[in-house]
Amino acid sequence: MSNVTQDKEGVSRRDFLGLAAFGTAILALLGAFAGSLRFVKSNVYYEGAKKFKIGKPENFPVGTTKKIDDKNVFIFSDDNGLFAISAICTHLGCIVYPTEAGFQCPCHGSKYDEDGKVIGGPAPRPLEWFEINQEVDGALFVDAGKAVPKGTKYLFS
Ligand code: FES
Repeated sequence: MSNVTQDKEGVSRRDFLGLAAFGTAILALLGAFAGSLRFVKSNVYYEGAKKFKIGKPENFPVGTTKKIDDKNVFIFSDDNGLFAISAICTHLGCIVYPTEAGFQCPCHGSKYDEDGKVIGGPAPRPLEWFEINQEVDGALFVDAGKAVPKGTKYLFS
């Protein structure tokens, strides 16, 4: 009499355990392979271009404020011209929103005046101002990679 048990189809317990161990090993290898796929993609975050068009000057009537949402920049228009102020809080990078007094950060309460100067909270630096210039086709663009001194404006001609 044999001590190897077999079911009705003829698979022994030893064969079943061997297949289960093999299947488990294959699953573990597939899991390890799938886990290693995350290293194929770089963890470096590539930002989009720092220069972006905002349209023609006539799109910004005097006294208006527009936020370019996907670029996190406010465009202001006053009697003298246009200017661009970053909407990114200098504390930890949350997006500020405009208030009566200037700007407020929703994360840790930093407050900025209308020129982006820090007037409260933990922000270490004022909001950045960016250069606005005009392309040959007449469209305006903001260069968010080029900070300019506070008060720098694109002057209406
Ligand atoms: S991120 Fe704005 S106050 Fe902290």
